[in-house]
Amino acid sequence: MIPLAIPDLSGNENQYLTECITSNFVSCVGPFVSRFEEMVATASGNLRGVATASGTAGLHAALVAVGVKAGDLVVLPSLTFIASANAINYCGADPWLFDVEPASWNIDCEQLAQQLEVETEIRDGEVIHIPSGRRISAIMPVHTLGMPANMDAIVKIAKQYDLPVVADGAAALGAIDNQRPVGALGADLTVFSFNGNKTMTCGGGGMVVGDDPVLMDLLKHLTTTARNGPGYDHDRVGFNYRMNNVQAAIGCAQLERITELVSAKQRIRKIYNQAFADIPGLSPFPDYSRPNANNRSSCWFSGVLVEEADQVRIGALLDHLKKSGVDSRPFWKPIHLQEPYLHVPKNNFRVCESIWAKIVVLPCSTGLSPDDQDEVISKFLQMVSN
Ligand SMILES: Cc1ncc(COP(=O)(O)O)c(C=O)c1O
Repeated sequence: MIPLAIPDLSGNENQYLTECITSNFVSCVGPFVSRFEEMVATASGNLRGVATASGTAGLHAALVAVGVKAGDLVVLPSLTFIASANAINYCGADPWLFDVEPASWNIDCEQLAQQLEVETEIRDGEVIHIPSGRRISAIMPVHTLGMPANMDAIVKIAKQYDLPVVADGAAALGAIDNQRPVGALGADLTVFSFNGNKTMTCGGGGMVVGDDPVLMDLLKHLTTTARNGPGYDHDRVGFNYRMNNVQAAIGCAQLERITELVSAKQRIRKIYNQAFADIPGLSPFPDYSRPNANNRSSCWFSGVLVEEADQVRIGALLDHLKKSGVDSRPFWKPIHLQEPYLHVPKNNFRVCESIWAKIVVLPCSTGLSPDDQDEVISKFLQMVSN
């Protein structure tokens, strides 16, 4: 079976894990945690990082840190993994959902600007969503599949409404936009995931990066049970969201090879996109760079869109591929179609709805060989032509 996305642990992982065992540092205190925080902050163009147990935990803590409260709304694109919406829900808030742009699959900034104009007003210094009467307390763009969202436009809107920006950059470490690494695009906080299928993994884990020392201190506090000093004084309800030294040891070894790992993902995207470019009925994933812009996606997942397909046809196609030895996946079902979020404020989802059920994610492990990728392409083309 050619797997979908497996890690490449052929660097210093073994050595660093052995160091964890021999030094007896396997829990949340240990030298690899702070080393990993510094390494990720540097790679993302930030001053600080706070390592977390998962990306979801990082998103939740980041939203709490910027002041999202029960009853609020947080702006979110609908085409995202459910964890982005769940993190908002854990605050007692709800997402206000938006469509995505066809070229990048990132939040539609025109729709965002327009709907904020039409559907909100400022009351007592707060941005109120008029139809629901609820406060909007943050904007959460997602750098979908590692393609930086249009942060210049988002930050401009955020400044206009005085809203904090927490970017879900789960798969975006290694992406750049006009020479700037993905954490340096103007978000107050950016959150990464290092789960098992990410370009670089810790087995599981996450990281919140940012530049504001007050916010970063607060995040450290929130993610470590809001404990004050060595005793058992806690000044608020915090979370046990810490990453442990074992996860961080793997993360350090992975991050040493981030350039190589991201280049492998970009090469895989390019090969699939070239292979499917001129085939009627198929459309490529977003290019890894926007036309005329120095913008580089980290290309976490790659694959193809089958234009005439629906959920049922894609399901059958994936079954056939599996039987022929190729693992593959459908893509995220948008949040506005998910049971727990049917009630939340919405917009027009023309793009989301026209693409999500047609997307096939194909094998894209960083170690995928050219021969295996050729085999995936030819088996896939055989199946869609039948
Ligand atoms: C867009 C997005 N947000 C959040 C997450 C959650 O990260 P984690 O699985 O580390 O909690 C993921 C994980 O795949 C993701 O893709």
